[in-house]
Amino acid sequence: MADFKEISPNASAGEKLLNWVDNRFPASKMYKEHLSEYYAPKNFNFWYFFGSLALLVLVIQIVTGIFLVMHYKPDANLAFASVEYIMRDVPWGWLIRYMHSTGASAFFIVVYMHMFRGLIYGSYRKPRELVWIFGCAIFLCLMAEAFMGYLLPWGQMSYWGAQVIVNLFAAVPFVGPDLALLIRGDYVVSDATLNRFFSFHVIAVPLVLLGLVVAHIIALHEVGSNNPDGVEIKAHKDANGKPLDGIPFHPYYTVHDILGVSGFLLVFTAVIFFAPEFGGYFLEYNNFIPADPLKTPAHIAPVWYFTPFYSMLRAITSEMMYALIACVLAGAYLGVTRAKIPAIFKTAVVGGAVVLVALMLSIDAKFWGVVVMGGAVIILFFLPWLDNCAVKSIRYRPDWHKYLYGIFVINFVILAYLGVQPPSPVGERVSQVGTLFYFGFFLLMPWWSRLGATKPVPDRVVFTPH
Ligand code: HEM
Repeated sequence: MADFKEISPNASAGEKLLNWVDNRFPASKMYKEHLSEYYAPKNFNFWYFFGSLALLVLVIQIVTGIFLVMHYKPDANLAFASVEYIMRDVPWGWLIRYMHSTGASAFFIVVYMHMFRGLIYGSYRKPRELVWIFGCAIFLCLMAEAFMGYLLPWGQMSYWGAQVIVNLFAAVPFVGPDLALLIRGDYVVSDATLNRFFSFHVIAVPLVLLGLVVAHIIALHEVGSNNPDGVEIKAHKDANGKPLDGIPFHPYYTVHDILGVSGFLLVFTAVIFFAPEFGGYFLEYNNFIPADPLKTPAHIAPVWYFTPFYSMLRAITSEMMYALIACVLAGAYLGVTRAKIPAIFKTAVVGGAVVLVALMLSIDAKFWGVVVMGGAVIILFFLPWLDNCAVKSIRYRPDWHKYLYGIFVINFVILAYLGVQPPSPVGERVSQVGTLFYFGFFLLMPWWSRLGATKPVPDRVVFTPH
């Protein structure tokens, strides 16, 4: 048993209570470790708002979700009407529902910004690989959570969107049809699907998500935060072992984050009050029509945050398979001729390529579309081992890296745009080029990240007041 800490009999009632708790639960210890004595680099800029904003949106989603569940009915015959009832008859129901629907899009905006910050400052690199990996797992969970949540209002887009995406699983060789059946619980999207998606959306996925967020922050606090300069503040400590360039998270960054939260809430509430559908991007117009299994909408598109990945899925046509085969062969050729690996691995590369090409020729392009779409997210997990640049932060990388990251973002936005548009021959070509660029960016990173002259990295952080 840990030693009990005695406190002076003259201490205040509050101090005595805290001492009583501390002797039984590490309240003060945790407060110090994660807030008042967590030393964060003093040069954080606005990109560092997005972690705490993601936490804020997580809380908004959970709290509004709890109130929605009080009135929502997970039943194919009642779901649509129960949402309308929330919007029209439940006191403040419209606000709760719009906060939740806008919160879903806000979550993705905030998380995409948060991930981009990690990308430009090399926050995924040693020793923060696990922080990044937990982040990628959070991103996957978030996608599952949003996808299942979108079925619940039981509108036309809910229904047909789910139908399209679940049908994709049927393209997996051998187990596909059974897998799709397992997910739906029926041969088509039906009441059974609604019930299981509801159960996953309100309890299973949020539990995993919360656990991952805790793991994400514990891992971050174990190694300490990165910063816009990408230098390790722990390399320079004072006599007490505190980083010279670190400041206590509380009160400095708690107060700093109030600015970010205020800016966020201004935009968030403006959208909720003035444009909750956001031109059909946050709430699609077709979803104001009750689900009708007998009437397929002319154009089915997922919500905007999925569309870059949806574009990649649609880009994989049987014609595109030839381009992918050419890429596999080129990769194998480079592996054999350029990589400094033992002969046995080179044989394995050739064997692997032959098997892969044979599979690519024999399995339908639809399946490879699913592989590419999933691969686009999975590849993010490997980022810490793909980047070989001598420096972490974009500030000290060769200038052309900045342009490359810029093109990466533009490409991602173009893919997102194409994913909301109906298919067209030009759109198809552009999305094919965009898909190749997206994968090329990551798969060729071990090579291109080493090129060019880096700038000298300062020993200590560069603090520019703003
Ligand atoms: C629910 C979603 C998420 C929440 C609540 C969350 C929360 C946080 C918080 C509070 C921080 C510390 C403050 C900051 O550095 O901004 C942080 C840091 C970080 N997060 Fe997340 N995060 C989420 C999703 C993600 C995702 C999807 C990724 C990447 C795939 C990611 C990667 C990182 C990295 C690399 C850091 C360290 C940044 C640095 O030290 O420079 N996070 N996160």
